[in-house]
Amino acid sequence: MRGYRVHLLRDLDPEVVESLPRSFDLIGEIALIRLSPEQERYLPLIREAIRTQHPQVIEIYLKGTVNGSERIRSLEIPYRVTYQENGLQLLVELGTVFFSNRLSRERQRILDQTQPGEIVVDLFAGVGPCGLLLAKKRAAFVYLCELNPRAIELCRLNAKLNRITNVQIFEGDARSFLKQFPPCDRVIMNLPFQAIDFLPAVIEQTGPGTKIHLYRFHRTEQQNFEYPKLRLLQIHPCIEYSAFEQISCFDLERTTD
Ligand SMILES: C[S@@+](CC[C@H](N)C(=O)[O-])C[C@H]1O[C@@H](n2cnc3c(N)ncnc32)[C@H](O)[C@@H]1O
Repeated sequence: MRGYRVHLLRDLDPEVVESLPRSFDLIGEIALIRLSPEQERYLPLIREAIRTQHPQVIEIYLKGTVNGSERIRSLEIPYRVTYQENGLQLLVELGTVFFSNRLSRERQRILDQTQPGEIVVDLFAGVGPCGLLLAKKRAAFVYLCELNPRAIELCRLNAKLNRITNVQIFEGDARSFLKQFPPCDRVIMNLPFQAIDFLPAVIEQTGPGTKIHLYRFHRTEQQNFEYPKLRLLQIHPCIEYSAFEQISCFDLERTTD
């Protein structure tokens, strides 16, 4: 056994320790751990064990479910943290905006695919971890759209913090943004439960050759995707959700009409 659980063996039965999650999310100095209601009584000991393993951690919160269209993780209290990812500094407020560091490799993957000089749209931008990264490192210009006013505020601050100026941040519903959609080379659609509802409008507004990254929940065995005017390039798994379901990025290309 490795990690923080080793430190619990002094105080808890090995079977109990074995049943606890092997890992947790570490976002800056904050740790987020998911426990079952029965396991919550061990939280004081778990906090101690995590702090022993990671002395920089100043608070440990229970991970709740991700709620509502704004995909916010319920936390006991909101907590603002500065987080460094892929060379980008990000202000994040856990509990009021969506943020998952589990997607950091995925954002690097999108960056690797982006060609210098591209125009990109990040339709569900959150605090900007993907759109701002592309703007800072590769794209000529990035349009970011976001519904949650708090996330917008942080996205603007994050652009400033990283001295990024080649962006336009649109505050509001992606449905309104889609009515004034700019010509672009790449569209990022990271809203796994609903992004597909926006796909017809994105197809209508984009030209042949445009790359579309559509994030979706899907059953692990599903390995194809057919949709008019789109060609599937690949399905890239991002987050394992359950034994049968995962969140993946469907890399798509707009074909000719
Ligand atoms: C899964 S999060 C992804 C955020 C960001 N791309 C990231 O990787 O951290 C989806 C984001 O879409 C925003 N959102 C939800 N519905 C929206 C809509 N109709 N229009 C614009 N943004 C929306 C949420 O507030 C949330 O910040």
